[in-house]
Amino acid sequence: MKNSTAGTTISTSTTIAMLPLLPSLLLCLLSLLYFLLARAKKQRSSATTATPRKLPLPPGSMGWPYIGETFQLYSSNPNTFFALKHKKYGPVFKTHILGCPCVMVSSPEAARFVLVTQAHLFKPTYPASKERMLGTKAIFFQQGDYHARLRRIVLRAFLPDAIRRRVAGIEAVALQALHSWDGRMINTFQEMKTYAFNVALLSIFGKDEISYIEELKQCYYTLEKGYNSMPINLPGTLFHKAMKARKQLGHIVAKILSSRRQKKAVADDLLGFFMESKEALTDDQIVDNIVGVIFAARDTTASVLTWIVKYLGENPSILQAVTEEQEEITRSKEKGGGEVSLTWADTKRMSMTSRVIQETMRVASILSFTFREVVEDVEYEGYLIPKGWKVLPLFRNIHHSPDNFTDPEKFDPSRFEVAPKPNTFMPFGNGTHSCPGNELAKLEMLVLLHHLTTKYRWSMSGSESGIQFGPFALPLNGLPMRFCRKT
Ligand code: HEM
Ligand SMILES: *[C@@H]1O[C@H](CO)[C@@H](O)[C@H](O)[C@H]1NC(C)=O
Ligand SMILES: *[C@@H]1O[C@H](CO)[C@@H](O)[C@H](O)[C@H]1NC(C)=O
Repeated sequence: MKNSTAGTTISTSTTIAMLPLLPSLLLCLLSLLYFLLARAKKQRSSATTATPRKLPLPPGSMGWPYIGETFQLYSSNPNTFFALKHKKYGPVFKTHILGCPCVMVSSPEAARFVLVTQAHLFKPTYPASKERMLGTKAIFFQQGDYHARLRRIVLRAFLPDAIRRRVAGIEAVALQALHSWDGRMINTFQEMKTYAFNVALLSIFGKDEISYIEELKQCYYTLEKGYNSMPINLPGTLFHKAMKARKQLGHIVAKILSSRRQKKAVADDLLGFFMESKEALTDDQIVDNIVGVIFAARDTTASVLTWIVKYLGENPSILQAVTEEQEEITRSKEKGGGEVSLTWADTKRMSMTSRVIQETMRVASILSFTFREVVEDVEYEGYLIPKGWKVLPLFRNIHHSPDNFTDPEKFDPSRFEVAPKPNTFMPFGNGTHSCPGNELAKLEMLVLLHHLTTKYRWSMSGSESGIQFGPFALPLNGLPMRFCRKT
């Protein structure tokens, strides 16, 4: 009986896939209310801003008054919405979602304009509730000097020179994860989240803070549960619990800070770099950025790893090629009689595996787009983008453009044998806010894939073809898989 119900659930995959969007829909309604209240005020104040020349707005439709096209966006796969719009209006079009007028851009040139060359005119923007939950002083929300200071420190911890020392530590985390999956049915995404969490914690706190780590993890799980809930701060709500957990996280990091100060320890991890920074950060600033980096590092890397496992499972010849590349690395190390554990140099010999990672990030485009807000009236290609509007560079559209990638829906790692043209492939963004963790992300994926492909086989549990958004695109139900050791 139980089994057959499970069967029907899977066959109605599209309905299930839309379920995670429900909270977002409710959120829309709330934002709408908020927007209506804020609107009257805004209109009065913007009446005086004069545009130098009368330029037209980009093409597109704004949908119904107030509600805009929010329902069109959320009633189908968001990617279908973007693709349809692009087809109808071209690479720069206006629309109106979540109570905000916005311009979506989906050409490499326009993305470069917004993210790189004119980045100072486009500031990052997030809903206020998310900002409060992660910490208002976290790097994502900043512009200017303070942003540049934070970025220097974060890059210092995650550039190749810093992470090449971490290969052995990351390998230990990977082996432990794989060992724990052996012979089990697992939820791939959940397990990959644990792996990415442990790697992030290692690069943030080093190996010495074990006594605090378990408590910190528990708080983070509570925070996560409330992150996508309705932002209503009343006792009992998930949001309220999450805000409490967020405070608790602050206390835990403060305890680690003071114990390090007592020991006068100098550590070469992110926390150490924050502490010794000449640019003196307050404890609050440090806490917000530690929580922010964990948030940025975990679900992103875990989603990409989940898609890789899926695509390798569906493409046996590609899996074969990756496995051969990795086995060759093992063989050459054994022959050399030297160090058996992986080194930074080994990870530079994984070109086939690296192309699989790139192609996965292109096809899956887990961050379909990002958000910016225009700080003053901007002219782009003869169009006006008014001050206060949101601008969304649509990474996914760019990555799926047939002009830049032939047969774009096909999973074909060999297309990366030739380097992609500038701004056609931006899985880590570009410009001042591009991902400072990209080298670490690639390293931890390569290390896991080395041991996964050489030592394990896996099978997907059947008809798992749906996609869910939460908020990243993800195989349905987190991709249940059975893993076992090769014999
Ligand atoms: C495959 C995994 C990852 C993907 C696809 C990814 C993608 C991105 C993208 C696209 C951005 C830019 C967003 C924007 O411009 O609005 C970004 C920013 C960021 N990422 Fe990643 N990321 C990944 C892993 C990581 C890891 C492992 C870390 C931590 C070590 C990290 C830390 C950050 C931080 C701190 C920012 C904000 C930078 C700033 O605002 O200056 N990310 N990421
Ligand atoms: C990529 O495709 C876009 C259309 O989506 C086109 O405008 C652009 O010129 C192409 N870029 C390159 C570098 O080929
Ligand atoms: C980012 O933009 C610069 C300037 O246009 C370009 O040279 C570079 O290739 C871009 N990076 C990516 C990942 O496309």
